[in-house]
Amino acid sequence: MICLFFIYTLILNLSFGEGEKRKHDNAKKPPNILFIMADDLGFNDLDWKDETLHTPNLRKLAFHKNTALLTNSYVNQLCTPTRSAFMTGYYPFRTGVQNGVFLHMEPSGIPEMFPFLSENMKSLDYSTYLVGKWHLGYCKKEFLPTNRGFDYFYGFYGPQTGYFNHSADQWHRDLRRVVKGLDLFEEVGSGQSVPDFSQNGVYSTDLFTDVAASVLDNHNMSKPFFMFLSYQAVHPPLQVPRVFEKYCSRVKGRYRRTYCGMLTSMDFAIGRLIDYLKMANLYEDTVIVFTSDNGGTADFGASNAPLRGEKDTLWEGGTKTTTFLHSPRYIKNGGPRDMLFHVVDWHATLLAIGGHHGESYGDGINQWEYLRTGKARIRRSQFVYNIDVHGSAIRDGDFKLILGNPDRKSFGDRTRLRLFRISSDPTESKDIARQNPIIVQRLSRKLEELKKYLHKNVRKPLDLAGNPEKFNGSYSSYWC
Ligand SMILES: *[C@@H]1O[C@H](CO)[C@@H](O)[C@H](O)[C@H]1NC(C)=O
Ligand SMILES: *[C@@H]1O[C@H](CO)[C@@H](O)[C@H](O)[C@H]1NC(C)=O
Ligand SMILES: *[C@@H]1O[C@H](CO)[C@@H](O)[C@H](O)[C@H]1NC(C)=O
Repeated sequence: MICLFFIYTLILNLSFGEGEKRKHDNAKKPPNILFIMADDLGFNDLDWKDETLHTPNLRKLAFHKNTALLTNSYVNQLCTPTRSAFMTGYYPFRTGVQNGVFLHMEPSGIPEMFPFLSENMKSLDYSTYLVGKWHLGYCKKEFLPTNRGFDYFYGFYGPQTGYFNHSADQWHRDLRRVVKGLDLFEEVGSGQSVPDFSQNGVYSTDLFTDVAASVLDNHNMSKPFFMFLSYQAVHPPLQVPRVFEKYCSRVKGRYRRTYCGMLTSMDFAIGRLIDYLKMANLYEDTVIVFTSDNGGTADFGASNAPLRGEKDTLWEGGTKTTTFLHSPRYIKNGGPRDMLFHVVDWHATLLAIGGHHGESYGDGINQWEYLRTGKARIRRSQFVYNIDVHGSAIRDGDFKLILGNPDRKSFGDRTRLRLFRISSDPTESKDIARQNPIIVQRLSRKLEELKKYLHKNVRKPLDLAGNPEKFNGSYSSYWC
């Protein structure tokens, strides 16, 4: 059993000689990958968990015979950390993004020494597209998606924006007023970022779905594609076209009813995209992944029941998410896959789908064979929830140790230790630290060891050089 927290400390950048590339041409072309990430989707928020919701397309996909349903799938507690872990294959505390998210006008990005999944997929001769949310830095060309391995980008750079007007309006402390700017851009290959003012009034879920389909329409089929469709839904603000109200009439509570509509709108959009793949004859040969970046926020209509906690906490409700992988060509006997999976594992797993069968990459392990067949050669039994000054948590087998404060914006005791047996107490109802001093000691020692690898936090204060008022009202790049 391999169960190391760190498999490599070296940074890998795949590079293949011509010989290796040519091998692809002769062998069967690797499959396309459509990776769909929802934003802030609550653990409870699918219609097979809460029957007042309406997600028929996702339900059909999740329980399809060609689908692996990951029942212990973990992510980080927030957008930027999870998305960085997905792209780099490293835990956020190793890349400096353990703390909070990048804001508009913040001159931060993921350190350039870490190659992104998109770059490595390009080495495997994939065309790489990102539509929707980025949230991994935008102030300079080097941080932009098309400089980090994507052939094409259409979407938004920051944490949050209007679903219809694509405007991010935020109170600026020093200026003592609201700063407004468009956050909707298109990039092509060379890091040329162009604001798109033309989509005012178009709901982002529909916009991103249409752009994704048209990108695939123009895709040259001599190569496989890796499409990262990174929806804005169901992140606040709570906004949805009125037509979706009728699907959510059974939902109690105004906020949750709107949230339900946003979710149904995304579900229908995914349904349309599947229909498009079928029509374009791409469906059989495309691996489709669905997941979310972190738990939902109860104040904005989401529910993580029965789990404890929510977005921006280290509780299960902030970090455990609904994930499945659907593939008519590769998964013949689908069903639940109960082994632990962490978002860092996607890097090695998608590389394997693309034909590079390493056992691991960064902090992640290749789970492709397990997802495909249900039989594991390599087992994950540990992972890091996060390591940060105010609070840290790790999982080891049945147990989860929390050091310090798992909750957002509260300043509890930073030395407090909590232990939960997650396998029998998934809702973290009973702290068993006092009864298990040996386990607590072993896991806290592990945590201390891991802290040696803590990367300096890369976040920075906001900089008015990025003020949209200097850029014709958009959160443009090229200012840091
Ligand atoms: C954009 O929409 C949001 C959400 O409705 C709203 O708060 C904001 O004022 C709008 N901004 C502009 C510039 O119209
Ligand atoms: C697709 O790519 C192949 C290989 O690069 C090229 O030979 C072909 O002309 C391209 N087809 C189109 C329609 O661009
Ligand atoms: C400047 O902003 C306006 C909307 O605020 C937009 O219509 C116009 O196209 C923008 N001009 C350029 C050069 O981006």
